Amino acid sequence: MPSPYLVILAQQEADEGLSATTAVGWTVFGLIIIAFVVAVVLNTLRGRKEVGAELELAANRKPYLSDEELEGKKLDRTLGVGLVTLGIIGVTLPLYWLGEPGRQEEAVVVFDESFVRRGTALYVEACADCHGPAAVGGVAETPLLNDRGEFVELVAWQSPALDTVLYRYSREEVFEILQWGRPQSPMPAWGELGGGPWTDQQLWNVIDYLESIQLPASEVRDQVAAELERTCDAGDDGVCAPGMEYETEGEALFNMGLTGGFAGGAFSCGRCHTNGWSWGDPGLPGGGFLGPSLRGGSVIRQFPSVQSQIDFIAEGAQRGQPYGVGGTAFDGTMPGYGINPNAADDGSRMSEDQVMYTDEQIRAVVEYERSL
Ligand code: HEC
Ligand code: HEC
Repeated sequence: MPSPYLVILAQQEADEGLSATTAVGWTVFGLIIIAFVVAVVLNTLRGRKEVGAELELAANRKPYLSDEELEGKKLDRTLGVGLVTLGIIGVTLPLYWLGEPGRQEEAVVVFDESFVRRGTALYVEACADCHGPAAVGGVAETPLLNDRGEFVELVAWQSPALDTVLYRYSREEVFEILQWGRPQSPMPAWGELGGGPWTDQQLWNVIDYLESIQLPASEVRDQVAAELERTCDAGDDGVCAPGMEYETEGEALFNMGLTGGFAGGAFSCGRCHTNGWSWGDPGLPGGGFLGPSLRGGSVIRQFPSVQSQIDFIAEGAQRGQPYGVGGTAFDGTMPGYGINPNAADDGSRMSEDQVMYTDEQIRAVVEYERSL
């Protein structure tokens, strides 16, 4: 269910169809038409009276003012009017110029707001069912098929929270995901190129909406810390307290949200690197699914030094770029956990401290992966 707040926003958008500006526009248009008709009628009437009169005195032949009159009061008045007009221009032009930057900024804000408002309506309509109201994460009811395409069972596939999606992906990467959807998952294609129903403009509107609801960094830190405490409660050595769900903090991070559905699994690695993770039936941890297998020493071969692997996890993969010893990122699906890719953009609402994991958390998950 979309939240009432979002529904209200969506409704406002619809109500604004006939805006005040449009009404004023039509009124002015009407007045112009009326004035035009009146002018034509008056002109025609006046014309009729003069039929035949031009034989005695053509209209332009009435006697005009004398030189004295022309060069006296008349000239003074004309010059006076000119001076006053110049004065008005001289004062108002700088005033207008002074106000212009403010007007432009205001226009950008209004633009931004209307994009966000449109994006909100689109989100409620198309995404909220799976990703949850206000993008806090949810589940997608998905029919699971076997290799031969036969129905096996209906599963609840975790859909990641998107109120942190610009922590881990750049706006352009999110655009690509929306354009093409995510093959082998319930995430459909929305863009025209991927066979979806939306224009590029609509995709950007939804991204603007998502940008407007990204959580503050401190809130994310607190949420993740609370979830880690619930499943691991590690000491300084990164080993979980006895009787906890996981053995190490790295393992808890890797699987964050597997039980309890925290943020729709948005913070986990398992949703892409462990088969069955997303629908609560995980196979071998790190055995590979949308992302490659991380088992049997493969990450140690790919990243001989711990630091190079930490750097990769922090930045994520970039479409078509090489990484590690012999890796090439296919489409940049692997998110970045320690560097916000949007913070550097001028005009972005995102800041550098809005990242998925702290440095210690990245180190913990890297250690866990190297033990697989
Ligand atoms: C039928 C359910 C469904 C709908 C509808 C849906 N999504 Fe998704 N989406 C998913 C699932 C499931 C995933 C995660 C797939 C995976 O990697 O396991 C996902 C992944 C994503 C991702 C990648 C996030 C990440 O961290 O991997 C983005 C961005 C996204 N969706 C945005 C949207 C937007 C915006 C809409 C609406 C236009 C939308 N989705 C509609 C189910 C859905
Ligand atoms: C949304 C899916 C997704 C998530 C979530 C994800 N990965 Fe990945 N990962 C990938 C993909 C796909 C690749 C392959 C590179 C590419 O095409 O982007 C990859 C590559 C890797 C590699 C390189 C493996 C190799 O041998 O080449 C490592 C290591 C890795 N991921 C670790 C992690 C860790 C740690 C996390 C969690 C903090 C994580 N991944 C979360 C999709 C994901």
